[in-house]
Order: sequence, then C-alpha cells, then structure tokens
Amino acid sequence: MIIEPRMRGFICTTSHPAGCEQNVKNQIEYIKSKGSIDGAKKVLVIGASTGFGLASRITSAFGSDAATIGVFFEKAPAEGKTASPGWYNSAAFEAEAHKAGLYAKSINGDAFSKEIKQQTIDLIKADLGQIDLIVYSLASPVRLHPVTGVLHRSVLKPIGDTFANKTVDFHSGKVSEISIAPCNDEDIQNTVAVMGGEDWAMWIDALKEANLLAPGATTVAYSYIGPALTEAVYRKGTIGRAKDHLEATAFEITNSLADLNGKAFVSVNKALVTQASSAIPVIPLYISLLYKIMKQEGIHEGCIEQIQRLYQERLYTNGEVPVDEKGRIRIDDLEMRADVQEKVALLWDQAVTENVAEIGDLEGYRKDFYNLFGFDVAGVDYKAEANEMMGIESIA
Ligand code: NAI
Ligand code: NA
Repeated sequence: MIIEPRMRGFICTTSHPAGCEQNVKNQIEYIKSKGSIDGAKKVLVIGASTGFGLASRITSAFGSDAATIGVFFEKAPAEGKTASPGWYNSAAFEAEAHKAGLYAKSINGDAFSKEIKQQTIDLIKADLGQIDLIVYSLASPVRLHPVTGVLHRSVLKPIGDTFANKTVDFHSGKVSEISIAPCNDEDIQNTVAVMGGEDWAMWIDALKEANLLAPGATTVAYSYIGPALTEAVYRKGTIGRAKDHLEATAFEITNSLADLNGKAFVSVNKALVTQASSAIPVIPLYISLLYKIMKQEGIHEGCIEQIQRLYQERLYTNGEVPVDEKGRIRIDDLEMRADVQEKVALLWDQAVTENVAEIGDLEGYRKDFYNLFGFDVAGVDYKAEANEMMGIESIA
C-alpha cells in the first residue's frame, strides 16, 4: 500500500518500511565508514529496535562483527496496517546482518516480564553460550512489575514547585508558556519503578544466575543530564530521580559482578529526537535551539554517531574507560560545552513564535521526528507500493 504519515498528538500512527530500512542502512554505512572497533563479540541489547538501543546493536554488529540478540516491544504489521517503526528497523537490521554473515535474532515482548527474560536466557544458552556486553536501553511509560503485579506509570513532572517555562509545538511552530504542576510522592516511586535501575539489575542477576555472563562482561545503560533550562522538569524532576536510581544501580551491579571481573556503566548521552523525548514538554524547544548551535559549530551528532563514539572512544580503547567524578561515561560532552550552553540560553530568552523557525532548527527537529517513522528519508520513493507486511527473519 501507499503509506503516509498520520499524526495523533505527539505520535505518528503510521510508519514506512522502506524509510525505516533506509535509516538502518544509513546507520550501517556510517559504522562501516568509521572502521572496526575492538569490542564485544556476543551482545544482548534490551531496547534494540529504535533510538540509542538500535544504534548500539548496529555498532556492535557492523563495528565489531558481533552476534546480537535484540529484545524490544514493537507492534507487528497487520493486513492494511503498518507495524511500529522498531519492527521495520529490526526487520531491516536482521536482513542486513544475515547478509553479512552475522548472527542476529530478536525477541518481541515485554522486557520487564519474567517470561521474556526466560525466553532470552533460553536463546542465549542455545545459540551463544555466554555474552560479553549487555546494553540496557529501554524507554517506556509503563512497567508491570513482575513480582508485585503492580502496573507503574512514569510521569514527567517537577518535584516541589510548579514549573513554568516556554515550549514549542514543533508541528505548528507555536511557542507558548506551559506550566506543569508538581508531582506527588507516588509519582516519584512509580517513575523510579519504570525508568530506574531495578529491572536492569534483574536482567543482570538472571543472566548471571544462568551462568551466561562471560568473564569481564560489561553492561551499559543510558542516562541524561541536560542544562539548567530543563533541570526542574528533567534532571531534578521525577525522571531525574529515576536516572539517579539507574546511576546508583550501576555500582550495585558492578559489585555483584566482582567475581567475574565484570562492570556496569552508565553513559550520559546527548539530547536527541526520539519517540521518548518528543513527548517531554520543554525538551523540543531546547533540542531545536541546541541542534541549531551544534550544527553551526559542526559538532551535531545523532544516535549512531553518539554510540560509535561511546564504543570507540570510551568503552573499547584498550585502556581504562574514562568516567566523570560520579563514575559516569560522558558522551554529552559536546552538548554540555559551556559555549554551546551559553548560546542556547541566549536563544532561549529570545524565542517566540515569530522567530523560532529562524533562530532554532525546527526544520531539523521535524525531519528527525518524521525520520523516526521512516518518513522524509532521502532516496525513498514514497509513491511506490510499500511492503507493510515486512517480517523479521528470526520471528516471522
Ligand atoms: P526509544 O523510544 O527510541 O527506544 C526505546 C526502546 O525500548 C525500543 O526498542 C522499545 O521497543 C523498547 N521498549 C520499550 N518498552 C519495552 C518493553 N516493555 N519491553 C521491551 N522493550 C521495550 O528511546 P531512546 O531515546 O533510545 O531511549 C533509550 C534510553 O536512552 C533511555 O534510558 C533514555 O532515557 C536514554 N536517553 C535518551 C536521550 C534522548 O534524548 N532521547 C538522551 C539520553 C539518554
Ligand atoms: Na533504545
């Protein structure tokens, strides 16, 4: 069928298989162009179908010839109805990996559940033996707790005071004032339950218990800090508490892996347009201004450039992994550069509906957003019949 973008609120309800495929191919080409990385050879990526997790899977496979297992939660296609973009991304990834002679299998289901952990363990046992890198890259609004049965919902709210600031509707370009009422204690607990480190630790415990972690195994999860501008709603808000918890969990996991000489890291990544970040108020305006400045300075990166740098210049240098004073890997260094942040803050004060398209990179934001769903990708013929039933080789 012919597929067009269809918007509902902050999300696009359709996705384009050929566009998603092209995005994956572009990322693979980028990784190949950067040369080989002396990295892990057997890799599990949890949250492998979009954003930073997909970039991690691609970097491992095409940078280090790694066998990869990807876990994700995506919607399969149905006759006349498109799949979610992560489905098509994974279909394209597997096809390319298999063509290149690389092992790649995928598991589609709720990574928070015991069942999906068990299914993953069984697959690793059967096919890979032991693994040496686990990337934890889930972003989810909900988690059904596997022990208590409670359904936790994460929220993006400030703690203590109402937060009032500007935001932009990146579709219309309208800049407006928003205010977000502070959370209650339950909101904090729920957000920590969904986006904190408990599930990460459960995964690593389960893998260790099953003797599936190779000596020296590494695990990495992704975090965000960001500027003072977004602090009240991000790093000092409910999601920030979850990230604090995730970062603290890295130390606990490292302790639990001492006998294997294993190590857990948190990598602090750059703000990027993903399905997860588009829904956070204020962030789209910040990202539009940040993109403008970083592109001007020639230091803009997307998920794939970020993760390539994470592997090549942080995790796999054959030396100590460089970390900050809190033990975190920083690949948000370019975003957080003082001169970049000063320029963004100046633009922030000036931003109004009339000038935001000019002083900010709204066009780049929109393009990245549509690209997430496989639209507006260079080289794709959107007038051609699309194969919406495109399957994932290891699943279909
Ligand atoms: P994303 O939305 O692109 O990817 C989320 C992944 O999790 C997808 O593969 C999805 O299928 C999977 N997933 C969600 N719920 C699941 C479930 N119940 N079971 C199995 N898989 C599930 O998100 P993004 O942006 O790549 O985020 C990944 C991590 O990176 C998050 O921890 C996020 O906070 C962090 N991060 C994101 C930044 C950004 O600007 N987007 C910046 C810095 C860190
Ligand atoms: Na991801």
